[in-house]
Amino acid sequence: MSEEKSPWTFIGLVSSFPDISQDNAKCHVLPGCKTVSIPRQGIEDTRLNRLSDLSDQVLVFKYKGFMHAIDNQCPHSAFPLKEGNVFDIEDLGTAGIRCFRHGWRFDLFTGKGDGGPHTLNLWDIELRDPSSLEIDTPGKSDKEIWVRRPLQN
Ligand code: FES
Repeated sequence: MSEEKSPWTFIGLVSSFPDISQDNAKCHVLPGCKTVSIPRQGIEDTRLNRLSDLSDQVLVFKYKGFMHAIDNQCPHSAFPLKEGNVFDIEDLGTAGIRCFRHGWRFDLFTGKGDGGPHTLNLWDIELRDPSSLEIDTPGKSDKEIWVRRPLQN
């Protein structure tokens, strides 16, 4: 049986996601990071689901030249990663996010964690040319951010 990928969802322009590279002591929802709720296909739109199910939220931010889209829910015990902090993993030349709840750390490029078998879900992310901006409008060099839920989620 083959699994179908989720559809792509437009979540905003790159310019609306400030770079948190200079302020990575704490990854706040605003202004540096944004969480977007994207319910799974087939889930009924119940009142409970509309009220912020963490498992439906993607956390999106820009850090040192890269856009990241990750589950907002820590894979260890479901704490919101928007409360965590982003840091450099200097030995590996990469970056990670540390969960505020128990301190587990996850690589932002592989999702691999250092506290056990849990792996952070990384969402597919694409930067696309804007389809709706006029050629001469400000922001014409901006890109649209599209995300898609990973298969394993
Ligand atoms: S809930 Fe994130 S490390 Fe435990």
